[in-house]
Amino acid sequence: MFDWILPEKHAISILKKDHETVKKLFDNFEKAKGRAEKEKIITQAVTELKIHAILEEEIFYPTVRKYVGSEIMNEADEEHHVARVLIAELDHNGVDHDHRNAKFTVLAENIRHHIKEEEGEMLPKTKDLEIDFEALGQKMLDRKQRLKKQGIPDDQEHVMVAKTGGKADTPAATASRTSATSHKSRTGTSRKKGTRVASGKTRGSGAKASRKKTKS
Ligand SMILES: [Fe+2]
Repeated sequence: MFDWILPEKHAISILKKDHETVKKLFDNFEKAKGRAEKEKIITQAVTELKIHAILEEEIFYPTVRKYVGSEIMNEADEEHHVARVLIAELDHNGVDHDHRNAKFTVLAENIRHHIKEEEGEMLPKTKDLEIDFEALGQKMLDRKQRLKKQGIPDDQEHVMVAKTGGKADTPAATASRTSATSHKSRTGTSRKKGTRVASGKTRGSGAKASRKKTKS
């Protein structure tokens, strides 16, 4: 973690302030008792994170990438991607999903880790660069204002999650459904013509195909 004294509008001060805001929200979420209180925190944190990610991806990361190096920057990109998937699922699944609090807790853990790496590895490599960090900071503040006023556009992760069909399954729910289907197939309860099995093949047509093969 860094404790450098920097001007308020320095780009790094703006990022650091955002980090403190979301970390405080994560702490409050852990302490919150009621559903309404937790939901209010989720909404605030998700909005903060979406805006913060855009400022970094559009403005800060491209400016410092060549100085910091691709290893650290690519890792940061991937961490943003994972966070964006979790956020898209929180948005898509809605407030009644039974994994909502768990999903937000995992998002918070991911972001805490990401902040630790940014502050511990990425930002120390940037602070002494010959960059006009205050002009960069102003650009970030202007972008933040515009996003708050005009709304935050959906990202590719929202599109990706929407394309899954909105079943909102957890891996455990999918696994138990798949294993139930395989069990039915093994015990013969699904051996009707055209019944789909876990492999995605159609049992009826597969059997026909193999009979044809034997004939020729
Ligand atoms: Fe970040």
